[in-house]
Amino acid sequence: MQLAARVNRISISPTAAVLAAAEKLRAQGVDLADFGPGEPDFPTPENIQNAAIRALHEGRTKYTPTAGIGPLRDAICKWHTKQFGSAYSVPECIVSVGGKHVLFNAFCSLLETGDEVLIPAPYWVTYPDIVLFTGATPVPIMTDPSDGFRLRAEQVASAITPRTKMLIVNSPSNPSGAVVPRDEFEKIYEVCRAKNIWLVTDECYSHFVYGNEKPYSLASVPGSKPNIIVAGSLSKTFAMTGWRVGYALAPEPLVSAMTKLQSQSTSNVTSIAQYAALEALTGPMDTVAAMLAEYSRRRDRIVSGLRAIPGVTCVEPGGAFYAFPNVSAHLGNGISDTTALSKVLLEKQHLVVVPGEAFGTPGYLRLSYATSIERIEEGLRRLEKFFAMAEAAR
Ligand SMILES: Cc1ncc(COP(=O)(O)O)c(C=O)c1O
Repeated sequence: MQLAARVNRISISPTAAVLAAAEKLRAQGVDLADFGPGEPDFPTPENIQNAAIRALHEGRTKYTPTAGIGPLRDAICKWHTKQFGSAYSVPECIVSVGGKHVLFNAFCSLLETGDEVLIPAPYWVTYPDIVLFTGATPVPIMTDPSDGFRLRAEQVASAITPRTKMLIVNSPSNPSGAVVPRDEFEKIYEVCRAKNIWLVTDECYSHFVYGNEKPYSLASVPGSKPNIIVAGSLSKTFAMTGWRVGYALAPEPLVSAMTKLQSQSTSNVTSIAQYAALEALTGPMDTVAAMLAEYSRRRDRIVSGLRAIPGVTCVEPGGAFYAFPNVSAHLGNGISDTTALSKVLLEKQHLVVVPGEAFGTPGYLRLSYATSIERIEEGLRRLEKFFAMAEAAR
């Protein structure tokens, strides 16, 4: 079939492919140790669920304004100000179908064929594909594992060309968990501002930071509004992945363009999900703190467990809920890359992991610790066993 070039340029998400193979085994009753999911294992907090039920009973089931109901857009701006010290108003805010849709709308509204978009690697799998869809060119910037995969301003400066239109920063990062230090983030912003380059800050994991780190947004920097696009999501912070609510905070002309695009594609986010989101952002946030405390415990367990496996190294993730160990010492001997390794781990150990190639960094595996301590321990046992058997067979 002759499909459009724009769709032939992109591929199905590699994480989705791994999860689909795992799902097949699960359906056969196989006991999987599952480090695959990029979503919280906690239920959506009850107050949020109840708000959706209330909205349903009150008949809030009609079309809403494309950019979202006024009270939700207002709540997003106020919540962001309270959490991070930003200063957005309703015309600078649009509610979209998750953070992914925000990025899609923003990239389609800004990027042209020939534009270059800087994407620090390891990167979230979706960035390069949306960029390719628009006809622009993704340009990876390899970050340094010995520097905890943190993006540095000088790396950005040296990757810029006359065609550079945009930089995407995801801090904390999926998959590495790296958190860009505040002062460095501001230097990165300065580099972009001086060259009139858009800085997209993907704040999907903003509230899952560990140790002394505190949630941070570049939007707190005075005067940054004209050059940055905040891509936010309720998916991870409030355990709402299935509800599909994200938002952008950006200059008004861009929000208008994104709204125009959205009006001709998805229209508004599901009405009852918007009322649930309104409750999430105006109600108590103690469930978020409880999730963070649990992720923190799990992070410590998985990182120490991985580091105890011979031949495995693991940078300490500062945020999000992923560990990103280097397993390259275990490649070779018929297993040429981590894609092949992930396949064998699934077949032989019923262990689900995502290969590093998916994130632009061969030699690594992504392990989500959005799963219980017991399952983390079971998964670590299987991984260690596999590597020990493979070593013995060498
Ligand atoms: C880095 C990053 N950004 C954005 C998203 C989008 O999330 P959603 O579309 O559910 O808001 C994800 C989801 O996994 C992610 O990992």
